[in-house]
Amino acid sequence: MANVTFSAPSLGKDITVYAVAGDNKTLLGVAKQHNIAIPCQCQDGECGSCLVKVTVLGDNTPMAVHLTDKEKLTLSVNGKLNKGQLEHAETNDMPPPYRLACQYIVRGEDILVEFSGDPGVEIELRR
Ligand code: FES
Repeated sequence: MANVTFSAPSLGKDITVYAVAGDNKTLLGVAKQHNIAIPCQCQDGECGSCLVKVTVLGDNTPMAVHLTDKEKLTLSVNGKLNKGQLEHAETNDMPPPYRLACQYIVRGEDILVEFSGDPGVEIELRR
């Protein structure tokens, strides 16, 4: 189980839901299941509209992640994944701050998911 907290101006207040680790649900799928509207168009990692900022909560080191080539490309061309972050992701499997909700598989760690509510627009960093 993982706590997933969604935060966006459109939500009014933060919403925390439980997600079952290992059921291979994407973050977008978890949001939809709970009627949380993250903008999305292609749902296939190509348009960048489902941009979210993911922060791992607690003191644990973020779980290693393998970004798909599609997510790397879409984040990079939209200016949300810089060269240093890409190298860190590829070398150390450490996740970058911005992700695509339709590509992010929820796992057994508590996360904060921030999004602006506008397609592909980043939210101001608050942490
Ligand atoms: S909905 Fe298009 S990249 Fe996620």
